[in-house]
Order: sequence, then structure tokens, then C-alpha cells
Amino acid sequence: AQPVVLDVDTGIDDACALLLAALHPGLDLVGVTCVGGNAPLPDVVRNTLTVLEAAGRRDVPVAAGAPRPLLEEPVDARHVHGADGMGDLRLTPPTMGLDPRSAVALLRDLIDVHADSGQPLTVVPLAPMTNIALLARTHPETFARIGRIVFMGGGAMVSNATAAAEFNVFHDPEATAIVLDACTEHSVPVTMYGLDVFYAPTVTAQEGAGLRALGTRVGDLAGGLIDFACGRFATDTATIGDAGAVAILLAPEAVRLQRLPVRVELSGTWTRGRTIVDLRDWAGDMEHDPHGPAPAVVDVALELDGTAIAALWL
Ligand code: BDR
Ligand code: CA
Repeated sequence: AQPVVLDVDTGIDDACALLLAALHPGLDLVGVTCVGGNAPLPDVVRNTLTVLEAAGRRDVPVAAGAPRPLLEEPVDARHVHGADGMGDLRLTPPTMGLDPRSAVALLRDLIDVHADSGQPLTVVPLAPMTNIALLARTHPETFARIGRIVFMGGGAMVSNATAAAEFNVFHDPEATAIVLDACTEHSVPVTMYGLDVFYAPTVTAQEGAGLRALGTRVGDLAGGLIDFACGRFATDTATIGDAGAVAILLAPEAVRLQRLPVRVELSGTWTRGRTIVDLRDWAGDMEHDPHGPAPAVVDVALELDGTAIAALWL
């Protein structure tokens, strides 16, 4: 099984991602770190513990990280994810506790242990990248030992938080820029699972009801999340969102990645937080783009077999 750590702001679709990572035999979920994003950090922590406990994974260490972005004031997305940040399902409060380490300390330990054992860790940020940027800045030697980063964020052509930017990158643009720079500096392969593919895997309300009908704690939770997401937007289908970024680790054939230069817009009157994905015919040299430092080169997800990914999640 591939060892993975998830960095989350749980979050309906983060919960869907956690369930997949916690329960699929092809993945070894070795830890989870939390960051403020969709909901304030205390809610994110509680929601994350609730999901892992429902999945029977009290063994997974969960650490709390940054409550706010590096520079900005936090803006949550409770209008999308519910007042508690995870669908207001009135779930039993978790009894499992937090790991005493900070998110950065837990990431550091997990990355080093796996690099030492010859199985470098895949880090999957599904939230604003504040924790990962802090790791890059405080422990660059550990950051360099990450096997791969697959993050949900940005978009080549699609945006949601503003007309220009995707929520996770918009929430902490500096963090995303720091992480992409660090990937370039330390040759850590990085995949961007952005909004161009994010909405493709969907589950129907009927399939959600089928999960509930299983009569298990996980089925109730997963079905409840789908139910809430369908109700929130008054549709018959809900995207599994962040869970798709985990699913492509298991089904790499379902996604078309293209190596492309990516920059993060840090200023701009209306474009702060946009990922500038250079879709021009790019020959590998930057001669036709001489402005400033070279961009990161990122494997950008441009197309996805949403049906296959949703089926895998179900
Ligand atoms: C991202 O923002 C959050 O609402 C989701 O969990 C996802 O990580 C999509 O822009
Ligand atoms: Ca998220």
C-alpha cells in the first residue's frame, strides 16, 4: 500500500477523501494534519477526528496546524459546507484525541521515517497549503525527502472563490507559491488536481441513499455527506471533490496530466490567488517568457474519467 498523509480542512469533500484514504487497501494512511480553511481550525479538527473514528481508524495520528493563512485573515466556506463545516449531520462527538505534536512536527516525523525506510511519503494537501509552506520554510531538509505532492487547488481554466481564483489557493496564495518554489528547489514531483477536473466525479442522491442503506457507521456518514451536498445545491448529484485527488493515486490511468509551468498570482487587483497555468506550446525553455524567476513545472490534471473515479470512491 502507498503511504500517504492528508492535509485537510474537513469539509464535506475532505471527509469523502479521508474515508477513501482510511479504508482503501491500496493506501496506507499514516497521518492527517489539519488547517483552517472551509471551517475554523477547531471545527476542522473535530470533523477530522469524527470521520476517522467512524472509519474505525483511531490509530491514525491527527495533528492541528495553522489556524489562519500566512498573511490574510481567514475566510471560511461554511455557506457551502454547513455551520459545523461538515454537513450539520449531528454526528456523535469523537472520543479519540489529537496527537500532541503540531502539524509541522507530525509531517516532519512521518516524512523522515518513510524516507529512512525507502518508501518516501506522498503528501496530499486538500486545503490551503499553510502547513506545508511552514514545513518547507522550517525544515527544508525534510521537505526535500517528500516522495510526491498531489494537491487539490487552483485551476488552469476554472475558478470558484473569485472570478480568478480557486478557494484553497485564494485562501493562502503565499503558501501555495512557497510550496511550488520548494518543489522546484528540492526536485519534489508535484501534481495539481485543480478545478479543471474537480467537479467531474459525482455521486447521485440515490447512490448516497444506497450507502445509508448499508446500515454501517461509515455508510451513514458517507451517505449523509452526499445527501447534504445534494440538498445544499438542490441537485440530484454531488461532487466528491477532494476525494478525487486521493482516488487518482489508486487509478492514475483515469487522469490526463500535462507537465506545465505554473505560477501563483500574488498581487493583481482582481486576480490574487489565481494559478497561472501556461498552456502555450511550451518547448521546455523559458526564452519566450523572460519575466522574473522561472515558474514551477507541475503535472497539471487536465482531464479526468469522472465515472471511473466516482465508482472507485463508492
Ligand atoms: C476546495 O475548497 C474546499 O471547499 C474544498 O474542500 C476543496 O478543497 C475547492 O475549491
Ligand atoms: Ca478541502
